[in-house]
Amino acid sequence: MLARALLGGGQSLAATVAAAVAAGTGTGTGCLLLRRFACSETNDLKKTLSDLVPQQQERLRRLKKDHGSRALREVTVDMVLGGMRGLPGMLWETSLLDPEEGIRFRGLSIPELQARLPTAVPGGQPIPEGLLWLLLTGQVPTPEQAASVSEELRHRGHVPPSVLRVLDAMPPGTHPMTQLSVGVMTLQSGSHFAAAYRRGVPKSRHWQAVYEDSMDLIAKLPQLAAIIYRRTYKGGQFVVPSSSLDWAANMVHMMGYQDPGCLEMMRMYQTIHSDHEGGNVSAHTTHLVGSALSDPYLSYAAGMNGLAGPLHGLANQEVLRWLKDLTAKLGPNPDKEAVRKYVEDTLASGKVVPGYGHAVLRKTDPRYTCQRDFASRYMPEYPLFKLVSNLYEVVPEVLGKTGKIKNPWPNVDAHSGVLLQYYGITEENFYTVLFGVSRALGVLAQGVWSRALGLPIERPKSLTMSELEQMVAQQQKREQQQQGAHNGRGDAPAAADSAVAATPATS
Ligand SMILES: CC(C)(COP(=O)(O)OP(=O)(O)OC[C@H]1O[C@@H](n2cnc3c(N)ncnc32)[C@H](O)[C@@H]1OP(=O)(O)O)[C@@H](O)C(=O)NCCC(=O)NCCS
Repeated sequence: MLARALLGGGQSLAATVAAAVAAGTGTGTGCLLLRRFACSETNDLKKTLSDLVPQQQERLRRLKKDHGSRALREVTVDMVLGGMRGLPGMLWETSLLDPEEGIRFRGLSIPELQARLPTAVPGGQPIPEGLLWLLLTGQVPTPEQAASVSEELRHRGHVPPSVLRVLDAMPPGTHPMTQLSVGVMTLQSGSHFAAAYRRGVPKSRHWQAVYEDSMDLIAKLPQLAAIIYRRTYKGGQFVVPSSSLDWAANMVHMMGYQDPGCLEMMRMYQTIHSDHEGGNVSAHTTHLVGSALSDPYLSYAAGMNGLAGPLHGLANQEVLRWLKDLTAKLGPNPDKEAVRKYVEDTLASGKVVPGYGHAVLRKTDPRYTCQRDFASRYMPEYPLFKLVSNLYEVVPEVLGKTGKIKNPWPNVDAHSGVLLQYYGITEENFYTVLFGVSRALGVLAQGVWSRALGLPIERPKSLTMSELEQMVAQQQKREQQQQGAHNGRGDAPAAADSAVAATPATS
């Protein structure tokens, strides 16, 4: 029996959405048309997708047929050695990241999501179910469409007892992210896609089984996360799910929290952490593993193992540890000079300052700004919020002075822990699980499209250092010959081209 204790109930989403519509804070009765996607009249998400898939398949076919051999940009040695920074190498439909402006989800910025997606309370934060509709279809849903996703996720949300038995068999103290990965792997035995593939379902219908798995998994993640939280930190006293709360609020409820501010915070948190285009470690890993036709459970669990790295999702845990250490050493209200010295000491010890820097962004992360706005509204006097605000005044300057850090500004992880701490969710080792639940929305929505578009198995070309050296030497030789030929003719020398063309994969 999963439910060892029963706490509280919840408000009806239908009632709150209706109130939001009445107050004029929803999106009205019609969906908002984005890009090439026509609005759907139905509340059935899978039916909406079924109508969109053939159009998008045709769009991809044309792009490939008409422009497949067109070059987009050069491949430099730095790109090969530098973790493929800036190298376009995959199709990702659900979001796009601009280094200066930040993330856009199907073309919408975070403030635009907040203004346009359906909410659970009037003027409140978007519900992630609306975002899921947007990510999957490219359409801003009506409140009724978002509410139907909430309903569908509630119906699919039950986590079988076998998962708890498997988690209970793990060593005490197992990190919550390991528990998340193992929990997801335990659910994998129910994969519709794995069964469909075994039955020989044709490739054109793969996406439908992937959709079923993705919706099942997204639905179950809040309860799985709550089980991990309650068994790790609350003595295994579980809370049964609400039959009326929306997806993110229900997770908070099952974790044992009821504060309406906490529910709103989690709706916002789950919305903004969902997707950050395709190249980040968790998204790319999920995509890569899925390209081998591993089912959504296998590919998402792989992505979560990447999210558990301290340079990626685990940074939110590391930020809290770093802040706690800072407060223990300097007290709750340190002056700027003391903070500056602490940051310098962190760098001098060879550690990174968690929550700062980014591989793509070159400005303050709008996900940081969104959380800062939330804190300014709900917890302006909270000391930890003030400390994080003070860090914003000091850290970028110190990081900038090193001369090597490309982006000294804060990222999403610099702020999320403050919000969780304020509402009493103080166990920082759990924070990356909350990030991971949200990330499912983006990577699984894209996974559905990857199968709908029939994207092939990923297989980039790798090179040895010897091969790179030879390629560079050959290129230099060609440049010298060209220069000699131009000099002989008295022409101006050709501009040196330092790019090395990548050779196609041979296997
Ligand atoms: C996110 C991150 C991994 C991006 O790495 P990147 O793309 O290699 O970043 P850069 O090109 O700016 O790195 C150049 C150098 O600055 C260092 N650097 C970058 N951010 C740093 C930070 N916050 N603190 C200390 N050093 C940092 C890098 O480690 C690298 O050092 P090296 O040349 O000695 O190896 C990096 O900024 C980082 O480690 N940040 C802290 C962890 C974090 O917040 N992660 C969550 C990201 S959403």
